[in-house]
Amino acid sequence: MSVTLDQPARTSSTDAAVRLTGVRKVFGRGAQAVTALAEVDLVVRPGEFVCLLGASGCGKSTLLNLVAGLDRPTAGTIALHTSRPAVMFQDAALMPWLNATRNVELPLRLAGFGRSERKHKAAELLELVRLGGLGAKRPHELSGGMRQRVALARALAATHRVGGGDEPALLLMDEPFAALDAITRDVLQGELRRIHRGTGTAVLFVTHDVREAVRLGGRVVLLSSRPGRVVREWPTAGADGPELTEEITARLREVISTHAAV
Ligand SMILES: Nc1ncnc2c1ncn2[C@@H]1O[C@H](COP(=O)(O)OP(=O)(O)O)[C@@H](O)[C@H]1O
Ligand SMILES: [Mg+2]
Repeated sequence: MSVTLDQPARTSSTDAAVRLTGVRKVFGRGAQAVTALAEVDLVVRPGEFVCLLGASGCGKSTLLNLVAGLDRPTAGTIALHTSRPAVMFQDAALMPWLNATRNVELPLRLAGFGRSERKHKAAELLELVRLGGLGAKRPHELSGGMRQRVALARALAATHRVGGGDEPALLLMDEPFAALDAITRDVLQGELRRIHRGTGTAVLFVTHDVREAVRLGGRVVLLSSRPGRVVREWPTAGADGPELTEEITARLREVISTHAAV
């Protein structure tokens, strides 16, 4: 069975925060080689919220790591027109010996911000994620949801550059709420939408949860499994949420069964 490939719309490079063209990633060599990504074309525009959806093992994290510059593609190009992208993972990965404020200050320190500016920005970002007044708490004193709030504030801090401001920011999120309970996840999804609207940061958000993708994304991009490639994409604006969720779920099932039959 073949899968139809709907090409994403082409745009000029200036209206792309990041553009992937023909991105391929092969792990290993010879008989052991695993083609994680076949030929991915994807554009995220400045300020856009794109959800990358796919079954487990289809190459979502691989793609995010390539955009983050943590790994290199085997072929193809990734053009970034943003400040250094910030990454947020499922595990908050905070420094356990640093309090919330210090954790948020860390990327600002690495970027070369002075002490008072760091303090000011960290306080502002903790307010933004509704943790104002909790800056002195260390990670073990915070709930899982609060730790992800700190991780979000730190990721936003990582998009700041000394003297920067013109370049659009890009936030890369790899299933950041997957380990949280349903209620906390729901609250944080709402917070992320609010923060996205308020900051204008472009977001590339990886998830295997169709409902989450439909709720968060301005656009949902479906990746096929092994090797990963863009199968289809849907705009979510004006869509009926439950109906679109059903449609995408059906398509995801189809993609998974196609893969299983090979
Ligand atoms: N460093 C690596 N070495 C070898 N294979 C890898 C490596 N990273 C990922 N893979 C393989 O690439 C495929 C995609 O993995 P991944 O991007 O983690 O998927 P997802 O995040 O969608 O669950 C999987 O088959 C995985 O086993
Ligand atoms: Mg993954």
